Formats: sequence, structure tokens, C-alpha cells
Amino acid sequence: MQSPETFPAFADEARLQLHHNGRLRHLLTLKGLDRELLTELLDAAQQFVTPTGSIAARRDSLRGRTIANLFFEPSTRTRASFDLAGKRLAADVLNLDVNTSSRKKGESILDTIYTLQAMHVDVMVVRDASTGVPAYIAQHVEDHVSILNAGESDISHPTQGLLDLLTIRQRFSGFSGLAVAIVGDIAHSRVARSAVHGLHTMGVQDIRLVSPSAFAPGKDEMTFATVTDELDVGLRNANVVMALRIQRERIADLEGILDVEDYSANYGISAARLALAADDVIVMHPGPMNRGIEIESTLADSAQSVITQQVSNGVAVRMAVLEHVLSTLAGR
Ligand code: CP
Repeated sequence: MQSPETFPAFADEARLQLHHNGRLRHLLTLKGLDRELLTELLDAAQQFVTPTGSIAARRDSLRGRTIANLFFEPSTRTRASFDLAGKRLAADVLNLDVNTSSRKKGESILDTIYTLQAMHVDVMVVRDASTGVPAYIAQHVEDHVSILNAGESDISHPTQGLLDLLTIRQRFSGFSGLAVAIVGDIAHSRVARSAVHGLHTMGVQDIRLVSPSAFAPGKDEMTFATVTDELDVGLRNANVVMALRIQRERIADLEGILDVEDYSANYGISAARLALAADDVIVMHPGPMNRGIEIESTLADSAQSVITQQVSNGVAVRMAVLEHVLSTLAGR
């Protein structure tokens, strides 16, 4: 699934994603987005949230628009929710099958993009294992095309960050005074990076990154979070506990750096370990889960778990983001 091409680093993707009027033209990262804009997106997404079992929210706002899902890495939640989000807004949605696309014949990613652009695609939703791909594409598309980052290497996953914020806000009605513990493979997690940037912007001051040293973040990143290798320290009085999967696909020699059984015993989130957390604690996981490794299976299905709520919110958030960027492109 690794792209054979290399992509130049782009230092200022936070600015690249903004239209000159300050609105989002692309969504590449949560870095640099202010609280007002994040709140606007969360408010817009909340309008699309309906109880599961009821008829899903829909409207015709994107009729005539075309969205292409380009997932060069596997996905269930993000891909399905962008697909549903586009369809529930009446857009045409193209899910390009990467395994049978001409990229398999050596076509470059830009030629793939230009080909879709020529077919009147308005929004391209991109997931890729290589760093820099969404920004690289965003620099090359025409003015009427928007690029949405659906997961970039271990760097960022902005719509996941938004759905995590929405889920937390729904439970706590805000972010003030919360303690959030993110536990597991921080080093290789784009989910953790986007969550930390979003939480920091929304005013969460107590963000804890909990991992063994093999999975610790770099020293110079996410400096507004505290880092610990002691799970009990990270969990104490936490209101939110987010468990992360080991990102095996980004680790060349997992067995060489860590014993997974030990890791699970020391860092797996269980009901017993969670007793240290606040009484109102919620348990989150971006999925896909490895039950029994980073999270106890019964806990994942318990009343404290908001994991399926995260999934539901994913569709709502992606509907809000699609409407936002397309209204930017339309000059509204
Ligand atoms: N959370 C997430 O990105 O899941 P998928 O890989 O299934 O899209």
C-alpha cells in the first residue's frame, strides 16, 4: 500500500488549506485552525447527528457536485463515512478502486488527480501512507478543487480529530477542565496528533500521552501535552481515555522493539485499570480495534464506551466538512 513516489515536505500546510477569506478551502491539518473555526465545524456537524435507528440526516446541498474517494491505504470507517456523507448531501460519489486503478500500471498520483479533475471532480478525499501527499496534491489542483486529508501517514487525520472533539463535547458540553489521556502507540499515530492539536485549540490543558518509551512521541512535538510511561499516572482522574491500536503497518520490526504481551498487560485499558479515572470517564478508540490488546473487549462494549458514537459522529463531521469547503469554493 506504500506509495512508490516520494513527496517534497511542505512546511506551511496550515496556511495552504485556507482561502484568502480565512475559510477552509482544503482540510489538510487541524494545526493552525482557530477555536472559532473548529467550533463552527462542530456546530455544523451536530446538526447532522441523529440517533441510530432513526432516519439519517440528509439534504440536497451538494447536488451536482462530485466527490472522489482515493484511499491508497486500507480504511473502513473513514472511507464509508465520506461515501455516506457525500451521498446524504446528494453529491455524486466516486470510490476509486486503487487496486484496479492505473496507479498499478505506474501512473503517478498527479496524473491520477489530473484525470479525475478533468472529469469534474470537485472534492478529492485522500488517504496515503506517505507523508506530504495531501499538501502535495493541494498545491497542484485547480482553484475549483478541494483536497481533504483522510489520513496522512503518522502525521494527521483531521476529520478523525474533529469527530473526537464532537464526541467529547457531546458528553461534557464543552472542554473546560477536562483531563484527557491518550494511551498506546503515540509515536505512529496520526489520530493522536490530530486529537492533541484539536484539544489544545479547544482549551484542554490537561492532555496526557501515555506509552512505553518505544511508542513515545518525539521530544519536540506536542509539547503542550504531558508524557508518561505509567498508565496509572495517566489514568488518574481522567475524564476521557482514548486507546490507540499499535500501528503495525508503520513499524518494521515490532517484535524487536516491544513484547506485545507485556505491552498489553501494562498499557491495555481494562475496567479494572479504569477505576482510577474520574467517575464520568468515557472510553474512546478511533478503530480499528485489536480487542484484548490495547482495550479489554467487554470495556469496548460497555456503557463507558463511546466508540460507536465516534463512528456515527464521523459521518456528521464529514458532511459538515464537505459543505464547508464547497461553500468556500462557491464563494459563499
Ligand atoms: N479511524 C479510522 O481512520 O478508521 P479506518 O482506518 O477504518 O478509516
